[in-house]
Amino acid sequence: MSQPESTSLRKKEHIELCLTNEVAFKNKTNGFENYEFLHYPITEVDISKINFQTGFLKKKIAYPFLISCMTGGSAESENINERLAIAANQLNIALGIGSQRQALENAEYHRTYKIIRQYAPAIPVLGNLGASQIVLMKSFKPVQYLVDLVEADAMAIHINPLQELLQRHGQPFFKGFLKKLEKLVNVLDVPVIIKEVGAGISGSAAVKLLRTGVSGIDVAGAGGTSWAGVELLRNKLNGDTEFWDWGLPTSYCIKEISSLKKRFNFFLIGSGGISNGTDLAKAFALGADIGASARIILQTLEKSEADGVCGLISNWFETVKKIMFLTGSQNLKDFRKKKLVRKEKLY
Ligand SMILES: Cc1cc2nc3c(=O)[nH]c(=O)nc-3n(C[C@H](O)[C@H](O)[C@H](O)COP(=O)(O)O)c2cc1C
Repeated sequence: MSQPESTSLRKKEHIELCLTNEVAFKNKTNGFENYEFLHYPITEVDISKINFQTGFLKKKIAYPFLISCMTGGSAESENINERLAIAANQLNIALGIGSQRQALENAEYHRTYKIIRQYAPAIPVLGNLGASQIVLMKSFKPVQYLVDLVEADAMAIHINPLQELLQRHGQPFFKGFLKKLEKLVNVLDVPVIIKEVGAGISGSAAVKLLRTGVSGIDVAGAGGTSWAGVELLRNKLNGDTEFWDWGLPTSYCIKEISSLKKRFNFFLIGSGGISNGTDLAKAFALGADIGASARIILQTLEKSEADGVCGLISNWFETVKKIMFLTGSQNLKDFRKKKLVRKEKLY
């Protein structure tokens, strides 16, 4: 099978598997259940005045939320990206595009990426490419080309060693990545964001990434979609299933990396298994600037279209609002100040 066909086929299989719950972590959670909010019985917050509008990538968004990078580059992805763009545009939130690697192979599926700007001309959009492509590049002109293709406001580079390790014909080769990343940050005309895909980023790895000059980190922690699981299922469980649950829980990553804000200037995206308003609220309270989700959004889109996605995300923010009221937080800045307690301290 030729390379372009196999990239599109892989994407098709990723979508099919992510529409099921078979690809969830088995015995590891995102860790948010280990925290409780500190109920504040003397709240004076005016809930009607809580406003989530925030600046992101030089644009104003109505909620600090990103639909995580998912798809593009296969026949079925055009319709998915169209509907995701409609939802993101309606809510005025940010949207990530799936890996644009396929767009470098040929132009056959360029429309599947470009369609986003047709339906969402003004929201912040993130381009996407893998670290295993970056290390092979001698020049970064192709990355700038991908940015321009979708008029991206930032480029998200995914680091996914676990997935590459377990993927049939994967490319688990990242030697020289940090140096290449630093160069990319210097030549690209938009900010660079680094993201995992579900195994999380530790504080010490984040320090090295931030030293390259990246503008943002999306932890994409463990506890939601297991990309080891996705690749093992694609390969009929022919592989090392012990790695299904590998990774650092989302809550741990957010807490670790948010403490680096004293030393570095960057924005922190909290994601990995966020599937309700309480988890989203805990991500903010632990220090995330922006919340994000992937698989639950895809599943909601499939069940109830763009309107369903808008309903889901706006309901989550209604829950966040109630929690802010009950913890005495008038805005997200207040909310990030010691509003959580670890559960074991309560008993
Ligand atoms: C169908 C699907 C396709 C994805 N494709 C990509 C991709 O191309 N590039 C990327 O950086 N992340 C990709 N991801 C990973 C997500 O952006 C996200 O980091 C990860 O799934 C964890 O979030 P979740 O637990 O909310 O699903 C994909 C996720 C899903 C569900």
